Amino acid sequence: QAQLVETSKRLAAFQAVKDYLRPEYTRVGIGSGSTVVYVVEAIAALGHDATANMSFYPTGAQSEELIEAAGLNLQYISKLPAGKQLDVAFDGADEVDDDLNLIKGGGACLWQEKIVAASAKQFVCVADFRKLAPRLGTAWKKGIPIEVLPMAAPRVLDELQRLGSQNPRIRPGLPGKAGAIVTDNGMWIIDAPFAPLLHAKDSESSAEGGSGSNGRGTVDALADRLIKIPGVAEIGLFFGKNGLEVASGAQKPVAAYF
Ligand code: A5P
Repeated sequence: QAQLVETSKRLAAFQAVKDYLRPEYTRVGIGSGSTVVYVVEAIAALGHDATANMSFYPTGAQSEELIEAAGLNLQYISKLPAGKQLDVAFDGADEVDDDLNLIKGGGACLWQEKIVAASAKQFVCVADFRKLAPRLGTAWKKGIPIEVLPMAAPRVLDELQRLGSQNPRIRPGLPGKAGAIVTDNGMWIIDAPFAPLLHAKDSESSAEGGSGSNGRGTVDALADRLIKIPGVAEIGLFFGKNGLEVASGAQKPVAAYF
């Protein structure tokens, strides 16, 4: 199974780069995680001439190292000129539903990932077959990753429970290391399990109406509530309407490969 997963990630990454990285592009976002390693491998395999005019924008320390190690031109999203967008951003996901809504943040990089995704005209999600689920919260059981200011964590946990999360928890640090995991931004991560999330189209035929108050809300209704909790910096729900399109004019994820 492990070998099958790695093969699947690699094939998906090479296919995504072939289909979505155009030779004329100059600004490319590079996400985080183990799948993105193959995206960078696929880009590097195009050769120096193909990528010489491209700059690559990381979503954290890991992707910064990947870009440098591959000999690609590193640039930072903080240096993106006003009014400019990335041509495309490639990233992985923890779960993808059949509307291409995503859970991200299993690697604790979600805040910068969302900024890079929202800065891109096109966002390409590269994911292996394990990640596909009809509704978010069915394949990925660990919960929605939520980046929080450490001092706000106890209150955020209370609020998440009030919103219907079952047993939200502060993500621990690496094995053998005391305390919580600390993100690239000096924040903590809370993993908040919710009942599988509905689509907008489900709620139209549902008496619950996507209220979110009982943990059975639509993706966008729940996202709207989570992001408004004081102390929440960013949430690991990525979706077209609020997550990407409205914020940036970018498209919702255009492709998920399995
Ligand atoms: C990082 O915070 C995440 O959003 C990753 O993109 C996601 O966890 C996918 O990682 P893998 O490719 O390692 O599964």
